[in-house]
Amino acid sequence: MKRVAVFASGNGSNFNSIVEGEDESYQVALLFSDQPQSYALTRAIDIGVKSESLSPKDYPDKLAYEADLLALLIRNHIDFIVLAGYMRLIGPTILKYYKDKIVNIHPSLLPEFPGLNAIGQALDAGVRETGVTIHYVDEGMDTGPIIKQEKVLIEKADTYESLQKKVQKVEHRLYPETLKELLRKDEVVAEASVN
Ligand code: GAR
Repeated sequence: MKRVAVFASGNGSNFNSIVEGEDESYQVALLFSDQPQSYALTRAIDIGVKSESLSPKDYPDKLAYEADLLALLIRNHIDFIVLAGYMRLIGPTILKYYKDKIVNIHPSLLPEFPGLNAIGQALDAGVRETGVTIHYVDEGMDTGPIIKQEKVLIEKADTYESLQKKVQKVEHRLYPETLKELLRKDEVVAEASVN
């Protein structure tokens, strides 16, 4: 079973659904937030998941922040990192240590509408469909090899709120489902290499 850390900066609804999806392939061992006031931290306390927060503002630079964050992850024996609304680029310290072991979810069909406010970007562009992408994380913003995508249709009557609701409904099913597939496979590979 893989010990997963979920990183969230805000609401944490994906964190919640990832915890609800736990099975023999993974366990959420830690909720980490870069925002000490985030609702994700409150959720973690409510559902009994260990939580930690470090504020980048307390560090001179990203290297120092990530050095502490890496130590925290190692202390908690974290195998795999799941970004769920973590609104910060992952730097070289964490990327190097957790090579190919960090995934992200983004509310668009990447490479369309990367960055902030992907849902608003899709509405402003007047496109008929958008969606959800789960991808491995590299040094870029919402770049890295795509693992899974699912479309969401945009109707004429959709507002920001209604579209966000549709997108998040997909996210809450797709993220735990995909993690199980990835981490179960990972387990099999790890066992095979031991024998
Ligand atoms: C999610 O919709 C996620 O796809 C998005 O932030 C939201 C977090 O919601 N992530 C990005 O835009 C990353 N570029 P949540 O805090 O309720 O899980």
